[in-house]
Amino acid sequence: MKLLTVLFLSLTISFSVYSQPKIYVDVNQKGVRISPTHYGIFFEDINHAADGGLYAELIRNRSFEDAQTPECWSLITTQKTSAEMSIETKGLLNTSQAKCLKLQINKNTPDQEAGVSNTGYWGINVVKGRKYKLSFFAKSLNFNGAVFASLRSKGGKVYAKAKINSIDTNWKKYTCTFIANANDSAACFAITTPSTGTLWLDVVSLFPPTFNNRENGLRPELAQLLSDMNPTFMRFPGGCFVEGDTLKNRFEWKKTIGKIEERPGHKNLWGYRTTDGMGYHEFLQLCEDLHAEPLYVVNVGIAHKDHNDYTNNNDYLTDALDALEYANGDIKTKYGALRAANGHPKPFNIKYLEIGNENFKGDNYAQRYEQFYKEIKKRYPEMICIANVVAWGSDNPVWPHSAQADLLDEHYYRSPQWFINQYQKYDTYDRNGMKIYVGEYAVTKNCGLGNLDAAIGEAVYMQGMEKNSDIVRMNSYAPIFVNVHDRKWSPDLINFNASKVYCTPSYYVQKLFANNLGTVNVSVKDTSCTKTNILNGAIGIGTNLATAEFSDFSITGKNGKSLLIDTLHNNNAWFAKVGDWHTINGVCSQSTLGKNCLSTISMITDSVYAYRLKVRKTSGKDGVQIIFGYKDNRNYYRWNIGPNGNTIDRYYNGLKSTLILTSNKNDINKWCDIRIDVNTNQILFYMDNQLTHTLDISTPLLYTSATLDEKTNQLYIKVVNPTDNDISTDFCLKNYNMKGAKVSAQLTTLCSDKLTDENSLQTPQKVSPTITIIPNIDKEFSCKMKRNSVNVFKIAASSVK
Ligand code: AHR
Repeated sequence: MKLLTVLFLSLTISFSVYSQPKIYVDVNQKGVRISPTHYGIFFEDINHAADGGLYAELIRNRSFEDAQTPECWSLITTQKTSAEMSIETKGLLNTSQAKCLKLQINKNTPDQEAGVSNTGYWGINVVKGRKYKLSFFAKSLNFNGAVFASLRSKGGKVYAKAKINSIDTNWKKYTCTFIANANDSAACFAITTPSTGTLWLDVVSLFPPTFNNRENGLRPELAQLLSDMNPTFMRFPGGCFVEGDTLKNRFEWKKTIGKIEERPGHKNLWGYRTTDGMGYHEFLQLCEDLHAEPLYVVNVGIAHKDHNDYTNNNDYLTDALDALEYANGDIKTKYGALRAANGHPKPFNIKYLEIGNENFKGDNYAQRYEQFYKEIKKRYPEMICIANVVAWGSDNPVWPHSAQADLLDEHYYRSPQWFINQYQKYDTYDRNGMKIYVGEYAVTKNCGLGNLDAAIGEAVYMQGMEKNSDIVRMNSYAPIFVNVHDRKWSPDLINFNASKVYCTPSYYVQKLFANNLGTVNVSVKDTSCTKTNILNGAIGIGTNLATAEFSDFSITGKNGKSLLIDTLHNNNAWFAKVGDWHTINGVCSQSTLGKNCLSTISMITDSVYAYRLKVRKTSGKDGVQIIFGYKDNRNYYRWNIGPNGNTIDRYYNGLKSTLILTSNKNDINKWCDIRIDVNTNQILFYMDNQLTHTLDISTPLLYTSATLDEKTNQLYIKVVNPTDNDISTDFCLKNYNMKGAKVSAQLTTLCSDKLTDENSLQTPQKVSPTITIIPNIDKEFSCKMKRNSVNVFKIAASSVK
């Protein structure tokens, strides 16, 4: 056989055939119930999501801890004044603070001012009439006089000013409020004085009004966008943020509670220091404000670049148990009392705990998980413990450990098409198997900074999750926030600077789906609208860690016509890509025990054909593979038969998805007849004339899902049209009792001219939903599904039969 290392180019033929689609929704045929925690959110301080984002603090580097120099602070002097500033590490406010600012004013006059100013997080947003609350710590030496706090333009124009009459020689807290008299989205904050002497400053904090008027609270318009998503839970505080680059900069909850001046802050692994002003208590408080269940992620002793000894992991376990006591414990317990002292006597009642983040790779994760699981369940038997199972690279994660897990956390960051292809992913999961939390997912490839194409891909995937809410109990997109000045990860749902905000199309899909969700799936059938995909490509044979023989090849087209008859029997026509292949007397054998050995033969251009052959495994611990639809080594289908399983797999751009997963083990060590019948929308697989698998390969033209809210009788129908054509669609509502009265439907549509369209700070609403009321619909109605669109119908049933 010829050994060909060059890939041959495939001739891809595909066409679409469809008649006007008709979508039947039968409200009497109830399916899977929707999990009460189906849609949630995942918050992590990445891209300045908390500090310089959701956390409303306006002063950057407020504790002077960020660098060896006073980063973001500048000296204010005039020709008649002289002053200097430096970082001081002695005589500090308390042991949580490692640095403070020393400001020495050497020369001044009563009509002048010297001092320092802060630029905030890429500008401070000053709004006319808005009240700002200032607090800071200071002490002085040889200083007699007042200091002034002000909001001002970069050029020095003052918008608000407050006077502090004197500064003590010992550390003392000073507070004041002021109201701005103008608008400026790139303003500064300043502390100045007309006096001379030395001042020390620390924890200089300035807040605008906050969400729900909380002290040390959140930027209202950003928090409101979270609330608008109607999340049923919130996973926090990360992500990699929990793990840290090294264990030294992991999230340590005990250092994030109490007075802000007692929080040391830490350098997070996303490249900046966080104040931890938005700490454990504030996260729990936010969950309560959002009416979302808290889902806390704990570190199990693993960071990105190091880990501890898992046999000596008590500190980490105790830390997790203490966190639970803080959130859930009685006020008579040590940490329950601390929670009460911090203003929340009522328990927060955490019910979900994730043990580690993306730690499935190793470092004895299984043992660590088990330690945590056992101890947590002992004290909190009802706690839902979530295990890390996936993500990067694998499409079909499995939990390889014997330890119990209440939910497995899968993460996916892929292309729009990958997500569309996963519409049926959860249909094949074992109904009695482990339940899933898709803790992080997003289109991150080929999608700009978050375009319509990404939103469409995610919408189809979300429909698949809704249909399988008995398996996928929870899901959350990631990440949520990005300050446009420090984009470490893209895309993110909510983009902002100091004064402006815009959401990606993906945000609108999240919001739309979570706000239009019933309590139970109802049957939705879309029989007419299938696109026919020809499974053209080469056919082939393969082995994995096994040797095998293959013979009696035949390909029969429509009407029993033999195809490729000459080629099949011409040894030189085979392309042995990997392995040691020989053909003697019509028997083709592969004789190494290597991985993924593969040989292919000519392209099939027919859409309907039967591929037959005989197969026998001769040695090895794995099995044989029958290849078809082979376009290149990154794109093909295979039937994998062996002692380790019997699966139908698809490789798409190098990523494997298992389309049919069975635990049947077939070690074929006797000659076995194999037949694969490829039809336009279905493939049938036979072993020794027994049908073993049926694979539906028709690609829906429209993607659909439907749910009913049994309390309100609202019916929700979701239709995604990922094609470039508007599609006129008929709808038929079966068993839907309108009691003679016609009702109106509300249709919300997200679409735009181009799939690449995105929103921006300048055009925040370019891709945003529009609402149409369709009056007087009957049980049968028609509607145009716009090209590249996500549509949600909300129909109020007067009663359901
Ligand atoms: O969402 C961004 C990051 O992606 C998360 O921190 C991490 O869990 C994942 O790798």
